[in-house]
Order: sequence, then structure tokens, then C-alpha cells
Amino acid sequence: MVSLRTATLDDIPALEALITESVMVLQPEYTREQRVAALGSVFGVDRRMIADGTYFAATVDTAIVGCGGWSRRKTPFGGDRSPAKDDSFLDPAVDAARIRAFFIHPAWTRRGIGSSILRACEAAAAAASFTRVELTSTLAGVPLYAVHGFLPQEEFGVPLANGGKLPVIRMTKALPA
Ligand SMILES: CC(C)(COP(=O)(O)OP(=O)(O)OC[C@H]1O[C@@H](n2cnc3c(N)ncnc32)[C@H](O)[C@@H]1OP(=O)(O)O)[C@@H](O)C(=O)NCCC(=O)NCCS
Repeated sequence: MVSLRTATLDDIPALEALITESVMVLQPEYTREQRVAALGSVFGVDRRMIADGTYFAATVDTAIVGCGGWSRRKTPFGGDRSPAKDDSFLDPAVDAARIRAFFIHPAWTRRGIGSSILRACEAAAAAASFTRVELTSTLAGVPLYAVHGFLPQEEFGVPLANGGKLPVIRMTKALPA
């Protein structure tokens, strides 16, 4: 019923609507002000990942119900206007591939969609010779990543445009050989 495909630039309006819905409903750990300030920068679409063919859309019929991706570039999190944007390439021999921007529609959570996108990302990163993956998780995302073997490394605050900070957790995982 749920299918995975790579996202295209034509998907961007649907992806942006999905991301807003997911953030505003599924992140009660953050204040409304934090979420509104983070949308479009920390939470948003990165056209570079779509152009790279490393961003996935989970669909039911033609509707996009989830998204998430991986990257061989250094940007650790966020959309086109990420405060940490750096599109230079990682080196699979020494660096961890990035796992980024997972958002599931509130009506479609706890059905394994986030997990299936995560497995697709890990497989693609392994096929690109990465042996480790790393992500910057929201507080809401930690249980998903923990159950898939990611270990928390540090908590820090991402600066927001309104002067506030968004607490996030950097997590890492070694890919099976
Ligand atoms: C976090 C998120 C991506 C999880 O997606 P999902 O498709 O619901 O995850 P899955 O169904 O694959 O969950 C797999 C397992 O992860 C754990 N898990 C996932 N969401 C959880 C939650 N809200 N509370 C506790 N455990 C959770 C559970 O062990 C779950 O297995 P179970 O349902 O059999 O108990 C989704 O809730 C979401 O979009 N949240 C808002 C956006 C966000 O913060 N994204 C993370 C960005 S880093």
C-alpha cells in the first residue's frame, strides 16, 4: 500500500505542506514559537538532496505521506536555508553519511514508514561505500533512531531566526559490514 520512490522537484509543494503538518502536530516537545521559527530553515526541503536523487517520498496512491533522505554532502540537517549549509562532499573513507529530514504525515505514523525510509537510506549510503551514518535528531525523532541502533552523542541548540534555540541530538550508527 505504501511505496517508496525518489522525490522530484515537482514534489516540493506537497513536501512543504507535509513537513509543516508533521512539525505542527507531531512535535509537542517544542513550543509553537520554536516550530514556527524552525520551519523553512531547520525543517524544510533541501533541493540539493532532491537533485542528488537521495531524498525519498513515501506514497499512498499519489499522495505523499512521508519523506526523508540521506546525503553524501556535509550539510548535517535542515532545508535549503539550513543554518549549517555546506554542500561540499563527504569522504566515505573517513566521514559518516548524513541521514536527514524525516517527516511523516500525522495520519500515517507508527506504520513503519519512517523505518522503511531509514532502511532505504542506510542501504544507499552503504552502496556508496559509507560505513557510518550520522543524523541530527529532533526530540520527537529519537525513539525511531534509537530502535534502529543509533546512539546519542551530544545535545545542542540550533540557533533560530527568532533568537531562540531548538534542542536537538546528534546520533551516530556504524553500518553492518
Ligand atoms: C519521528 C517520525 C519520523 C517517526 O516516523 P514513523 O513512521 O511513525 O516511525 P515508525 O512507524 O517506523 O516507528 C518505528 C519504531 O520507532 C519507535 N517510535 C516511532 N515513533 C515513536 C513515538 N512517537 N514514540 C515512541 N516510539 C516511537 C517505535 O519503536 C516504533 O515501533 P512501534 O510503532 O512498533 O512501537 C515521525 O513521528 C515524525 O515525522 N515526527 C515529526 C517530525 C520529526 O520530528 N522528524 C524527525 C526529524 S529528525
